[in-house]
Amino acid sequence: MAHKIAVIGGDGIGPEVVAEALKVVRAAGVDLDTTDFDLGGARYLRDGTVLPDETLDELRAYDAILLGAVGTPEVPPGVIERGLLLKMRFALDQYVNLRPFNLAERNIDFLVVRENTEGTYAGEGGFLRKGTPQEIATQGSVNTRHGVERIIRYAFDLAETRPRKHLTMVHKTNVLTFAGDLWQRTFDEVAAEHPDVETAYNHVDAACIYFVQDPQRYDVIVTDNLFGDILTDLGGAVSGGIGFASSGNMDPTRHAPSMFEPVHGSAPDIAGQAKANPIAAILSAAMMLDLLEEREAADRIRKACFASTDLTASTPEIGDAVAARL
Ligand code: IPM
Ligand code: MG
Repeated sequence: MAHKIAVIGGDGIGPEVVAEALKVVRAAGVDLDTTDFDLGGARYLRDGTVLPDETLDELRAYDAILLGAVGTPEVPPGVIERGLLLKMRFALDQYVNLRPFNLAERNIDFLVVRENTEGTYAGEGGFLRKGTPQEIATQGSVNTRHGVERIIRYAFDLAETRPRKHLTMVHKTNVLTFAGDLWQRTFDEVAAEHPDVETAYNHVDAACIYFVQDPQRYDVIVTDNLFGDILTDLGGAVSGGIGFASSGNMDPTRHAPSMFEPVHGSAPDIAGQAKANPIAAILSAAMMLDLLEEREAADRIRKACFASTDLTASTPEIGDAVAARL
């Protein structure tokens, strides 16, 4: 049976890379029934729509969502990010943001499990006396036992499936002593249930050094929303570039559809020129197939992506080259 996929090409290079991802998935023999959703910065500029609740409800009927990139320079910061991307992640309770990093030449092979529904992203805070010299802006970090425990459990379960069975928690427990304490206690408790998983802890600043100087030490990393956001850009940069960085925003319970997107943005400077590297979008689609239990096709697609590809070719040519290997 065909998988029902909601496709949000979005802005800039988004639609270009998503087209290649769909091309490759179909070349792998997976049957998709896709519906395009016109959302993103361009739609917002046209009619002021970001993500209406009715559209969100429509999305719930799909098996998964494939997203290219959203955002345009003309839209003020936060409108599309909070109103579309974060609204979708939160409303569909996609609490795992999984970001794999692989670079065979450097022996890099690790995954970041980023908490995706809490932390500073929860939007707690506000202004007092805005616009006056006495202005106060607060931005809190929300950490619930439920939210912290489920992401840590997901990370342990994932580490258990991997040959090295190694899990590092990254935080800043020496400064963020409240959130850090909850994370550390929860991590230690869940670790006691998984004696087969070897654990480590890094402060986030030290992790930045290791990402650059010794990324081979990592197998699975679990961290909070903001640290995960920052670290995964660095992860992309040290493992072949952001053009290879894929991600899944997932509800592993499958109550609601998960959303798969390349880590890169809409890159308006190169949009419409067929210059974008579609590999990150293709690898994101492969993650989508993992969740749809099309694991064999997903593995073939990953293999085809990691075979050497001429990245100076155009976006559709790169897509064709990957598809041809299937
Ligand atoms: C990411 C992006 C988003 C985030 C932005 C666009 C809201 O940077 O997916 O990493 O901060 O999560
Ligand atoms: Mg980011």
